Amino acid sequence: MKKLFIIANWKSNKTIEETEKWLHDLSEGLNKENINLGDKKIIIAPSFISLEHANYCAKNLKFPVEFAAQDISAFDEGAYTGEINGRQIKELANYVIIGHSERRKYFGETDELIGQKVSIATRHDLAPIFCIQNENTPIPHGAEIVAYEPVFAIGSGHPDTPENAEEMSKSIKKELGDIPVLYGGSVVPENVKSFTSMPNIEGVLVGGASLDSHKFLEIIKNA
Ligand code: PGA
Repeated sequence: MKKLFIIANWKSNKTIEETEKWLHDLSEGLNKENINLGDKKIIIAPSFISLEHANYCAKNLKFPVEFAAQDISAFDEGAYTGEINGRQIKELANYVIIGHSERRKYFGETDELIGQKVSIATRHDLAPIFCIQNENTPIPHGAEIVAYEPVFAIGSGHPDTPENAEEMSKSIKKELGDIPVLYGGSVVPENVKSFTSMPNIEGVLVGGASLDSHKFLEIIKNA
């Protein structure tokens, strides 16, 4: 069976206290329903401020989740006010989301800056979860997981078709070899299986529906 990545991207949501409650509720739900994660790898991407406490909670709950940062500084440590660098992130996460369309749209991130972030991440042994918007998005060397996230599908309730996502994955693998490719954009409990059952899709990146621990539990179960 293929390994499935199920990633929660909380974006700019949840306080530290809410993070603790979500992790507690999800872990309780999985235990209560006796769900064996098997080949499903759960990765949570909370805000930076919650990462440390999220690690602490997961350890206490003996909950086998991993963590991702939602962003990384394009620079190493030094005089870059407000930035969180790779060495700092590595203490708290093994993955980092890079190239999300919201970073491009609201923060003006360019292909060049994004490429710099990927090389910084790999230098600190953080696996980049690299988002592409369409077949023209350049994928920098060092991307370890690719997430196909068409802009029209993000937060809209209108996902792309599993067939389109499968075709996109095939063309990425043709270019880059056997790299895990995920789909993201309006994934919900009702449609997750239609994506994860595609032979070349290795998981999902979930935004809105991951904020509710019960919905996210359903996504894990149905994937
Ligand atoms: P969505 O977001 O699930 O709310 O559509 C996905 C994403 O932006 O990663």
